[in-house]
Amino acid sequence: MKRTIKDLVNLKGKVVLLRVDFNVPMDDSGKILDTTRIDNELPTIKYLVEQKAKVVILSHLGRPDGYDIRKSLWPISIILSQKLEANVSFCNYCIGEEVRQRIKMLPEGEVLLLENVRFYKQEEECDMKFAREIASMGDIFVDDAFGVAHRKHASNFGIARILPNAIGFLMEREINALNQILDNPRRPFVAVLGGAKVSTKTKILEKFIDKADTILIGGAMAYTFLKAIGQDIGQSILNTESISVAKAILDSAKEAGKKILLPIDHVAMHAKSKNIVTTSKLTGDLIGFDIGPNTIDLYRKELRAAGEIFWNGPLGMYENKAYRNGTRSIAEIIAHTKAYTSVGGGDTVATVNLFGLLDKFDYVSTGGGATLKYLEEGSLPAIDVIQEKIL
Ligand code: ADP
Ligand code: 3PG
Ligand code: MG
Repeated sequence: MKRTIKDLVNLKGKVVLLRVDFNVPMDDSGKILDTTRIDNELPTIKYLVEQKAKVVILSHLGRPDGYDIRKSLWPISIILSQKLEANVSFCNYCIGEEVRQRIKMLPEGEVLLLENVRFYKQEEECDMKFAREIASMGDIFVDDAFGVAHRKHASNFGIARILPNAIGFLMEREINALNQILDNPRRPFVAVLGGAKVSTKTKILEKFIDKADTILIGGAMAYTFLKAIGQDIGQSILNTESISVAKAILDSAKEAGKKILLPIDHVAMHAKSKNIVTTSKLTGDLIGFDIGPNTIDLYRKELRAAGEIFWNGPLGMYENKAYRNGTRSIAEIIAHTKAYTSVGGGDTVATVNLFGLLDKFDYVSTGGGATLKYLEEGSLPAIDVIQEKIL
C-alpha cells in the first residue's frame, strides 16, 4: 500500500509540493466548462491547509507548445479561491527566483498555484535537472494527479524520485475503486466497451476476458469485430490492421468461456443520399454510426442481470445528435440498474455528464487514459514511484 497524506506527520510550516490534474475543459476566453477535477481535489487541499502546511500546487493544462496564454492556470486560481473560500495566490512561473521568494513569503496554511508546468519543455522530457529545481523548493511531495499518472513527467515521476512523498485523497480513492474492479467485482461482472479504435482498446479487452463475465461491444470498433466474424459492414469504419486482433480476442473469449456480444442492428447513413436508416444489415454504401434498438434490448438484458458494470467508450458517434440514442440509452440503463456501476474515459464521462447522469453512477473516474491503463496494467509509473506505507 502506498503512503498517503494521512501518514505524513508534522506538516505545520512545511512546503508541500502538491501535483494535481487541473486539466479541465476550458474555452479560449479562459472560461472553465467543467470543474469536476477541481471539485474532487478540494479534500486534499483542505486537509493540507488544516495541517498548516504551505501548499504549493503544480498542474498541467492541455498540451501547449511553450508559453500560451490560453493555457494559463490563472483562471483556475480564481475559481479555486472561490471554492476554498480562501486566498489562493498565483505565480507566473514554476522555477526561478520569483517562485522561491513567493514560497518563502507564503504564510502557513495558505495556497500558491504555480503556472502550467507544461509551459516548460523539460516537463514532458522528465528532465531531472528541472525536477530537482522544483523539488529544491519543497519539503514533501504529494501526488494527487491520477489523470496523468500514466505519464513519466518531471512534475510527477521526477519529483517523486527526489523528495519524501505520498499520494493524496483523490489518488487513493481512484486506486481503491479500480482495485476493487480488478480484484473483487460483484458477479456477474459486465464490461461495456465502445469508442473509435480497436487498437486503443485491445489490452483492456484482454483484461476483461480475464476479469469480466460478459463484454458488450459498441462504437466504431464493433465493425472491425463484425468484419472479423465475416459480416458485411458496408462502408462503416474498419481498422483493417486490427481484424486479426479482433478475431483473436473473440477466440480467446470463447476458450475462456466468456460471452462477448456484438451489435445486431445499427443506425446507419447512406453515404450517397445521406439518408439515415435503422437496419440489421450493413450492405452497400451504408455507414454504421450507432447501435440500433434491438441491440439496446439485447444489452439491457445483460445489464439488468449484472452485479457490477464498468463502462468505457461511447456506443456511437454521440457528438452528432442523430447517433446519440445508443449511448444515451445504455447510459440510462446502467445508471438505473441495481449493479455497482463505474465509468471511465474522457469521452465517456463527458457523455454521462451531457445526459445529466453523473451522480447516478457509483464511481466516476477522473482519469481518461490513466484509468484504462490502470485497469490494463494494475498500476501506473507515477504511482509505482511513491513510497510504500510503513506498516
Ligand atoms: P473514451 O475517451 O471515453 O475512452 P474513445 O476516445 O475511445 O472514448 O471514443 C470516443 C469516440 O468514439 C467519440 O469521438 C465517438 O464519436 C467515436 N465513435 C463511437 N462510435 C462511433 C461510430 N460508430 N462511428 C464513428 N465514431 C464513433
Ligand atoms: C487527461 O486529461 O487525460 C490527463 O490530464 C492527461 O493529459 P494528457 O493526455 O495530455 O497527458
Ligand atoms: Mg477519447
